[in-house]
Amino acid sequence: MSAEASWPGIIEAYRGFMPVGERTPIITLREGNTPLLAAPALQERIGLPIPLYLKCEGANPTGSFKDRGMTVAVSKALEERQQAVMCASTGNTAASAAAYAARAGIDCIVVLPIRYIAMGKLAQSVMHGAKVIAIEGNFDDAFRIVVEITSKYPVQLVNSINPHRIEGQKSGAFEICDRVGNAPAYHAIPVGNAGNITAYWKGYREYHEAGRSRRLPKVLGFQAERAAPIVRGEPVADPQTIATAIKIGNPASWKGAVAARDESGGLIETVTDEEILEAYKMLASIEGLFVEPASAACVAGVAKLVREGYFVRELQAGVPEDACVACILTGHGLKDPDCAIQAAQEPVSVEASAEAVVDLLRLKEPVSSRA
Ligand code: F0G
Repeated sequence: MSAEASWPGIIEAYRGFMPVGERTPIITLREGNTPLLAAPALQERIGLPIPLYLKCEGANPTGSFKDRGMTVAVSKALEERQQAVMCASTGNTAASAAAYAARAGIDCIVVLPIRYIAMGKLAQSVMHGAKVIAIEGNFDDAFRIVVEITSKYPVQLVNSINPHRIEGQKSGAFEICDRVGNAPAYHAIPVGNAGNITAYWKGYREYHEAGRSRRLPKVLGFQAERAAPIVRGEPVADPQTIATAIKIGNPASWKGAVAARDESGGLIETVTDEEILEAYKMLASIEGLFVEPASAACVAGVAKLVREGYFVRELQAGVPEDACVACILTGHGLKDPDCAIQAAQEPVSVEASAEAVVDLLRLKEPVSSRA
């Protein structure tokens, strides 16, 4: 075996499904192959009547699912001899674009709604040497700006309206099917700019057509309540949510999300910030999974559907015996440490002595060790 890990990254792992040829230079950080964890304790806590699986996308090289799309988008940009890539971002796309551009040796420009970027994500873009341009506006403003600029100047857009991003991100669906031995009956996912829900649905369909899975999942998408344009059926001018990654009022892949919902017989619903925070804490404290708030939105959504009786109705309607729910945990919790500190209890501090710590913990010595 070579000195590098045996997993080759998603392009080589799924080459037959990827838009690459022999002359495409493959820029990879060996993204993909992320854990799919069974979560029986969380399943029981929320009362879900079928198994729950969690796809830990925070385990990707830059800590989010964006790396799956970026390996393809940046490889293709290099093949097309582009000198620079550009994106608008709520933070993760920027971090990923910056990392892959650095590895490719090309420039990266990111346009960010500066007041709403989680600190970890900004740190990544800066460290990877991207030109970071902060705007006084939201993601939708940033997106409008980069679309305009990349249509006029020789800079490759790497937001998810670039089809190569979708091609890469669909690999998440392949991995789930490969691990489960079939597509899950339900696929739960947070929805922001709607590229990922579009990509997963494409992946599930392609795998099904290729005979690598025996069914298609119902796609369950979740938007934050005050940033839910697809649920409302119209753009939201001033989206608000604690989950800054999905604070988006006019998603670029709106049509793709609606197609995934309708073609799969699924749904797209809202979850409140309170529900997101509850799921965020449960994932960390019950399953040992520290994810960012946007990622927790899909678990919050599944919990809400349980409360509304959705899965009981589905079971009555004849859900197959091997049915399960796969939740896509899109990004790592370390991306947004401020949110965690605010959500959790502040640590208590005491003087630096063993006695003070024992006192605080109210520890009692075992009876046998007493004199
Ligand atoms: N979860 C996380 C952690 C994200 O960063 C995003 C999107 C989503 C979910 C939603 O995915 O946009 O494909 O529907 N982040 C983008 C960004 C917008 O700029 O990093 P989507």
